[in-house]
Formats: sequence, C-alpha cells, structure tokens
Amino acid sequence: MAEGLRSDAAGPVGRDRQIMALYIVPMHPLPEQIDTRRLRLRRPEPADAEVIYAAYAQDPLVCRYLAWSSHESVAVTHGFIAECLAGWAAGTPLPYVIADPRTNAAIGMIEARIRSTTIDIGYVLARSRWGGGLMPEAIEALAGASLTCPAIFRVQAICDVENHASIRALEKSGFTREGRLERYGIHPNVSPEPRAVFMYARVR
Ligand SMILES: CC(C)(COP(=O)(O)OP(=O)(O)OC[C@H]1O[C@@H](n2cnc3c(N)ncnc32)[C@H](O)[C@@H]1OP(=O)(O)O)[C@@H](O)C(=O)NCCC(=O)NCCS
Repeated sequence: MAEGLRSDAAGPVGRDRQIMALYIVPMHPLPEQIDTRRLRLRRPEPADAEVIYAAYAQDPLVCRYLAWSSHESVAVTHGFIAECLAGWAAGTPLPYVIADPRTNAAIGMIEARIRSTTIDIGYVLARSRWGGGLMPEAIEALAGASLTCPAIFRVQAICDVENHASIRALEKSGFTREGRLERYGIHPNVSPEPRAVFMYARVR
C-alpha cells in the first residue's frame, strides 16, 4: 500500500519537514482491500467496467437518489473507472469495488472521501443484491477501518430524506442521525433543485 506522507522534492527539510509531518494527512490512510464475512472491498480495476455497467450502472432505479444518472453506454463506465483510479493515485476519493469474494466480481461500490479528520462515504449496490444486509456489512467495515486511522475521528454520510433504504442501511451500521439539512443535495434524477438530506455520522 502506498501509505505515507505526501512527498515533494522541493518541500521542507530538517526540522520544518518534521513539523509539517505532524499535520499532513497520509495519502492512503485506508487499506487497499478490506474483507468482511461476505464481501471483499477492493481497489477498482479497468476490467470492472463491463460488470459494473451490467450489474447496476445502467439501472435508473439504482441511481434515483444518487448525484449521477444511469450510464448510457459501457464507455461511460470505463470513464468512471478511470476517475476512480485517479482518485486512488491522488489519495482521495478512495472508491472501493464491493466484490463477491467467491468470484471477485463487482456487485457495488463504496467510496471514502477524505476531508481532513472526516471521511465522507457514498455507496451503491446492484438491485439484484438488495435486502440481504450486504451494504450495512460494507459500511460497518469501512467505518471501522476509517476510525482506526489515527487522523480520522468522524465518518459521515448524507442521504436524501426519501431514500428509506439508505436511511435503514446507515442506522443498521450504527450511524446516528444528526440533523436534516435543507436544500443541500442535488439528486438530478428526482429534481434539478437541491433537496433536503439527513446527515448521519459515527465518531470516536
Ligand atoms: C441503500 C442500499 C445501499 C441498501 O443496501 P442493502 O444491502 O440492500 O441494505 P439492507 O439489506 O440493509 O436493506 C436496507 C433497507 O432497504 C430496503 N429494502 C430491502 N430490500 C429491498 C428491495 N428488494 N427493494 C427495495 N428496498 C429494499 C428495506 O427498507 C431495508 O430496511 P430493513 O432491513 O429495515 O427492512 C441499496 O438499496 C442501494 O444500493 N440503493 C441505491 C443506491 C443508493 O441509494 N445509495 C445510497 C445513496 S445515499
């Protein structure tokens, strides 16, 4: 894993470098793979695009409360995977493929966006796998790994106030509803105007 401090050949040296090291968040505070009882969360690969497109990215119902619309072709999904890999190269966001460990095939994704001492998460699962408690298992695993990082104190998620499945998934993962944020999130498949969301969090 490329864990470490951001390095810069023209950066500070000696004592200045040591002082900066106290304040710079590691590039990859999270592992590249997290295994749970039924799932493998892993770094995406270009070959995931076809499977993700077929499994859920072209499904408008899956995307209803997301910030993006269903993909019109697998080429869009290939572009999305390229963005995912750029995130891993840059240190954030860190999107994990949620894979069935028996086949290593993608059935969803969960993403960690690192913002200082907070990690913001987003997630999606193929409709054929809904209702089995898989996403709570993935959320718990990612939140657990996040909150063991010395630099991370809070894991948060926002969801549309009408996204009852996501609300339940967060509550079953031990997240606490902290409030309702009006006119906060644009979910273009529901409305072009920003909508109310709930803010959920787990902290240590
Ligand atoms: C939200 C989501 C990740 C939940 O994942 P999951 O693994 O199905 O979660 P669970 O199995 O714990 O089910 C959570 C709730 O979904 C609902 N649900 C279960 N099966 C369902 C089905 N077949 N169809 C619709 N909703 C269903 C139930 O309300 C359930 O709550 P309950 O356990 O109290 O009955 C999944 O529904 C999904 O991918 N939705 C589309 C993407 C999305 O909205 N992401 C979140 C953005 S904030």
